[in-house]
Amino acid sequence: MSRPYAAIILLLIPALFVSGCTQGGTLASVTSGDVVTTHTMDEVAIHDTPEDCWIVIEGKVYEVTAWIPAHPGGQAIVQGCGADATELFETKPGSRAPHSPDAMNLLETYYIGNLE
Ligand code: HEM
Repeated sequence: MSRPYAAIILLLIPALFVSGCTQGGTLASVTSGDVVTTHTMDEVAIHDTPEDCWIVIEGKVYEVTAWIPAHPGGQAIVQGCGADATELFETKPGSRAPHSPDAMNLLETYYIGNLE
């Protein structure tokens, strides 16, 4: 009578261990098999015009060409094209204030990979 219960418990212990191990952000993405694309700074630097604009912010690469015409800060964004624009993004020229949480959420929609 107690044998089936013992077998179930023995099966549950490793299952719980494995699911617990995959809860963390980085590890979860690794264990789920996601492949992160990486780009070199040389590759980013090629995309340095308003018609073809990649920017790096905190080690992540964004393809923001489509956003430029709608940017509330106008052409100010263009100085970040093909470059690491972390400081520009976090201290907007003029106000020197960081972009809003809305802007940061929007930024993520243009993510294309990590900087190598
Ligand atoms: C990297 C170079 C960038 C520079 C120099 C820059 C600069 C500016 C400036 C001067 C303003 C208007 C003035 C102000 O709100 O204080 C502004 C507003 C804004 N920018 Fe940028 N920007 C850049 C990149 C971006 C990117 C990549 C996004 C999103 C994809 C973005 C989204 C916004 C939004 C949503 C606003 C409205 C205000 C806010 O929500 O913070 N910007 N930006």
